[in-house]
Amino acid sequence: MSVATIFLQRTNFIDACYIVAFSLFIYGMSGLTGPRTAVRGNMIAAVGMAIAIIATLLTPHVLSGSSTPWLIALGLLIGVAVGVPAARNVRMTAMPQMVALFNGVGGGAVAIIAWIEYRHHFASGGGVWIEKSQIPTLFAAIVGSISFWGSNIAFGKLQEILPGRPIKLPGQTVINAVLFVICLASAIVLAAGTHSQGLFILGILLAAAILGNMVVLPIGGADMPVVISLLNAFTGLSAAAAGIALNNTAMIVAGMIVGASGTILTNLMAKAMNRSVPAIVAGGFGGAIAAPAGVPGAEDRGPIRSTSPQDVAIQLSYARQVVIAPGYGMAVAQAQHAVRELEKALEAKGVTVKFAIHPVAGRMPGHMNVLLAEADVPYDLLREMDEINPEFGRTDVTLVIGANDVTNPAAKNEPGSPIYGMPILEVDQSGSVIVLKRSMASGFAGIDNPLFYDPKTAMLFGDAKQSVSDITSEVHAL
Ligand code: TAP
Repeated sequence: MSVATIFLQRTNFIDACYIVAFSLFIYGMSGLTGPRTAVRGNMIAAVGMAIAIIATLLTPHVLSGSSTPWLIALGLLIGVAVGVPAARNVRMTAMPQMVALFNGVGGGAVAIIAWIEYRHHFASGGGVWIEKSQIPTLFAAIVGSISFWGSNIAFGKLQEILPGRPIKLPGQTVINAVLFVICLASAIVLAAGTHSQGLFILGILLAAAILGNMVVLPIGGADMPVVISLLNAFTGLSAAAAGIALNNTAMIVAGMIVGASGTILTNLMAKAMNRSVPAIVAGGFGGAIAAPAGVPGAEDRGPIRSTSPQDVAIQLSYARQVVIAPGYGMAVAQAQHAVRELEKALEAKGVTVKFAIHPVAGRMPGHMNVLLAEADVPYDLLREMDEINPEFGRTDVTLVIGANDVTNPAAKNEPGSPIYGMPILEVDQSGSVIVLKRSMASGFAGIDNPLFYDPKTAMLFGDAKQSVSDITSEVHAL
């Protein structure tokens, strides 16, 4: 063995590489707090991951065995061949399901590591499996397996391979409890030391697999982003447990970072939707739901007023301040570049334009920020909900582009509404409101929006991209 190889394989050197790697993870993540620094942050974290992979490959015995280096190279090649085109080609609206799929792969990998750890012990002639690594391995097997199967169901629902509505079996809660008890009891039996380990480890993986399916199937498709974030936290924790079992520092740190950030994100999303995480996991919301008794239906709310691109252009051009409130429909229509053109056209006419960003507008955290950044909308025009709400009273016109639930005044005024208490963009406080959408269809929550019937609201029906382009042409023509 050469001096260089001995140096590179020294534990101190490998540990130093790991410290550099997870310093880069943390520094990279701090870049993800804003669209301007996000791409750089992502690159920095990716460099950290490359260093962690190289350090792991340098660890003595990792590459031992004649076929191991080739198998690892093959795995890396397959990962790159699948991951790079998938990430490059995914549409922004399909991002949640891609995250679900990739998260599932992480959970599955952890469950397989746990299985291999178990087999490795017996292949090397081990007897009853009592080791210090055993409890984290069992945790990794259960949580990794739940995360793999749950994420696949989440992917299937968002990709519309499975029905988006909640699917519930009779006695579902009891079945879930029984499955959980099977996982836990098998883990306890294994931890206590038994000779029929094969049966119990299989019992754990199988019961956790069914549990992963059963927990996610009853949740409505539209709640999936929150569920995916929760499963993401699970995958992180299971990876950290597998890291303890394998004595791999980078895996422990990266897993804990994913676990902590996934938990924080899940809570933030649930809070912005005014729902509790247990209520989301209990299922039910997110499919089409009927308005409860006491909440007026569309027929009771009075007439709606529709408008034309020309009228909208006149209103906007003669306003002092216009606020644009984008939502999921802007993402569906891919209207962000057209919106940027409209913003420039209005500013050229001396109109002050601001963007109102609701924390859960769209279908994933930061959805609107990412789209607007992609279209080069200056970041200083973007206002968070708490910042813009007091400004609506001083706004002449608010242009709602494909947003619905996040502007719904029922969240403030109708105690019987399913979204009552959810913080909203208070667009109804502005001088007048123009809503761009294709029909009177409801949004994610499946409920009617009284804003559309407000006498100061006008509806411009059509695809958001086309409508915005038509308005911009009219603004230029004025
Ligand atoms: P939604 O309430 O879902 O409404 C979107 C509206 O866009 C729809 O009413 C739809 O009406 C319209 N639309 C769709 N395609 C369009 C197109 N091509 N052109 C014009 N309009 C189009 O969206 P929102 O206001 O952004 O609210 C987001 C919802 O998702 C909230 O309820 C939130 O709680 C939920 N949610 C968000 C997240 C995150 S993290 N963002 C996660 C989970 C759930 P038409 O069909 O009539 O056009």
